Amino acid sequence: MTDQSDEGLTIAPDYVATMFDLRGRVAAVTGGGSGLGAAISIGYAQAGVTVVILDVDAEGAEATRAIIAEQGGQAEVMTLDVTDKAAVDAVADRIVASHDRVDILVNSAGSAFRSPAEDFPEDRFDFIVDLNLKGTYLCCQAFGRKMLAQGKGSIINLGSIGSFIGYPLASAYLASKGGVLGVTRGLALEWRDRGVRVNAIGPTLMDSPLTRQAAQRTSLTADFIKARMLRPRLGLPRELIGAAIFLASDASDLVTGHTLMCDDGYLTA
Ligand SMILES: NC(=O)c1ccc[n+]([C@@H]2O[C@H](COP(=O)([O-])OP(=O)(O)OC[C@H]3O[C@@H](n4cnc5c(N)ncnc54)[C@H](O)[C@@H]3O)[C@@H](O)[C@H]2O)c1
Repeated sequence: MTDQSDEGLTIAPDYVATMFDLRGRVAAVTGGGSGLGAAISIGYAQAGVTVVILDVDAEGAEATRAIIAEQGGQAEVMTLDVTDKAAVDAVADRIVASHDRVDILVNSAGSAFRSPAEDFPEDRFDFIVDLNLKGTYLCCQAFGRKMLAQGKGSIINLGSIGSFIGYPLASAYLASKGGVLGVTRGLALEWRDRGVRVNAIGPTLMDSPLTRQAAQRTSLTADFIKARMLRPRLGLPRELIGAAIFLASDASDLVTGHTLMCDDGYLTA
């Protein structure tokens, strides 16, 4: 006991100065072509990370890459459909072949579909669960294997307030986001003593293309969520960058299986 606390108090003079340092690391960000994934990609690049933007939308991914390049950061684009296991495995291979390692994976590829549960189209249910849950799982698997081989890595999944609470017309999305936290906890436990941490970020309703696109079908879901906000304010994609840096960095070495809510206190009320 005494020995342990002595060890815990051995703190190098630059410990705090370097604990958030991500310079030279390599990150793969799915869904990096839009919204939250784009913001996190830009934030990582500003922190000196080489970012590989993985998105099915090549144009969106290229737009994120261009912003990063303009700011003097390092980024490249690889077109990827995260529901295609062979393609996911191949992209993980390619990244490690060209960069020697992959330190960070952010799973931000995702979508939503609004429908009353009693009429929810089966193909839309499959599409949302395949993309949000299985796509996340396949990427965790492929990149997790690389990180296990390195003995170090940090995976960050995108949960949601909908991982914990219900809202109308979103049964497939809620199922997928509950599942994402199950996967996060399960993999964190399996990999905890092999250097690979798996966490999630849980945003409130965000001002992003996904939110706007889902509202085109019906605003009922967003109105329901907004009516319960502690203050009427959507999150901004850039407001997740701090959480993404913390969970990727050595500052969170003891944090795994956790969901860091970035919800403006939504779940506290
Ligand atoms: N917007 C919100 O309010 C909110 C809140 C909580 C959680 N989230 C989650 O955050 C994540 C990102 O949401 P967003 O608002 O940035 O959405 P977005 O629509 O702005 O971006 C999602 C990106 O994923 C990409 N994508 C879609 N299908 C793909 C596939 N099969 N393979 C690879 N890429 C694919 C899209 O092309 C797009 O670039 C999602 O998982 C979402 O569920 C969003």
